[in-house]
Amino acid sequence: MRAVVWHGRRDVQVDTVPDPTIHEPTDAIVRVTSSGLCGSDLHLYEVLAPFMTSGDILGHEPMGIVEAIGSSVTNIAVGDRVVIPFNISCGHCFMCDQGLQSQCETTQVSEQGCGAALFGYTKLYGQVPGGQAELLRVPHADYGPIKVPDGPADDRFLFLSDVLPTAWQAVQYAAIPKGGTVAVLGLGPIGDMSARIARHLGAGTVFGVDLVAERLARAKSNGVEVFDWSSFDKPADLVEAIKAQTGGRGPDAVIDAVGMEAHGSPIAKASHAATAVLPGTVAAKLMRKAGTDRLAALHLAIDLVRRGGTVSVIGVYGAMTDPMPMMTMFDKQIQLRMGQANVRRWVDDIMPLLVDDDPLGVDTFATHHVALADAPSAYSMFQAKSDGAIKIVFQP
Ligand SMILES: NC(=O)c1ccc[n+]([C@@H]2O[C@H](COP(=O)([O-])OP(=O)(O)OC[C@H]3O[C@@H](n4cnc5c(N)ncnc54)[C@H](O)[C@@H]3O)[C@@H](O)[C@H]2O)c1
Ligand SMILES: [Zn+2]
Ligand SMILES: [Zn+2]
Repeated sequence: MRAVVWHGRRDVQVDTVPDPTIHEPTDAIVRVTSSGLCGSDLHLYEVLAPFMTSGDILGHEPMGIVEAIGSSVTNIAVGDRVVIPFNISCGHCFMCDQGLQSQCETTQVSEQGCGAALFGYTKLYGQVPGGQAELLRVPHADYGPIKVPDGPADDRFLFLSDVLPTAWQAVQYAAIPKGGTVAVLGLGPIGDMSARIARHLGAGTVFGVDLVAERLARAKSNGVEVFDWSSFDKPADLVEAIKAQTGGRGPDAVIDAVGMEAHGSPIAKASHAATAVLPGTVAAKLMRKAGTDRLAALHLAIDLVRRGGTVSVIGVYGAMTDPMPMMTMFDKQIQLRMGQANVRRWVDDIMPLLVDDDPLGVDTFATHHVALADAPSAYSMFQAKSDGAIKIVFQP
């Protein structure tokens, strides 16, 4: 089969690789019809390179048709249309029972000290071959796959794999009071969808911050009050501008949908560049121990949120020893929640919004549909945020 394969920093190629096969009775094989390209893939493309191995198959947002099932898979059948959650979870352990599927104790990558295995996501998360491919082996298919109805085009359901439950969790964790205010930092797919969901679930005012014109424009057209980060000299000016619209206090909640690749910290950029030229194991240690991540967006969130408000971190962070402004966090009495999305937990809440009408606008959410063969240029376009690319979907 053909698959998107990581070869090195900023080097993905479409290779012919062996077809996956059933290994366990709980496996399934899915023929992929659509597969998203995510901001998380961009971390692998460059910054998380130390945790990648040449030959890794990328992708964690697939859907398709079940082609084969193992002997103990009874919840889905050959020919079913399914969406595959990006986290691999068993559905019956202590963590899964509490709706913490991203911490599943059956698939936890304990040798790395990490939570549930993920498709297409580095050694830290099990090095499981991903879904930007013609075929995908799905472990724990007796629980994970989400059966969806025939009819609407793939995009109606595809984002159940990641964007929708991730944004839903970001909003739930933000605990926005009814009619209250929330600021969403980063208006990529995750921030954009978080803003839509916040409005749908009854937030009063949604502010959005980014520095890419078409992302700001799209959020604005969905009723978000947008701020262009690049038009402010320093973070404090942006904080003041938003505070001025919230009675001087700051929003009730802030969602950080940026993560570790924030624009705004030249020093971190130098450290990222350093990890790119060091040998793999040294670079991996530096990434984990030396605190090379950019915390610009997280610091902005902490400064911006009102006293006693909530910061919901949905952007991905990586290093162990990044300093946090504990004095401010304690003094402002900030509530902080974060983590990988527990995809399966939110599916039943979201599904009713996908069956009749399309209140979240998922049908027109993707800006680009491209053939798998065009993956190399799609990755560089998404990283450069060129050609108006906000969400790219591969169609193998
Ligand atoms: N927690 C989870 O389960 C989960 C799931 C999916 C994605 N993610 C993470 O969510 C984050 C966003 O994903 P995405 O697909 O939307 O990626 P993206 O890269 O398209 O979006 C990030 C956006 O942040 C903007 N940005 C950069 N610096 C900023 C700053 N200082 N202030 C405001 N905006 C800034 C960028 O211009 C971009 O539009 C990534 O870190 C991704 O890894 C987490
Ligand atoms: Zn994703
Ligand atoms: Zn489990």
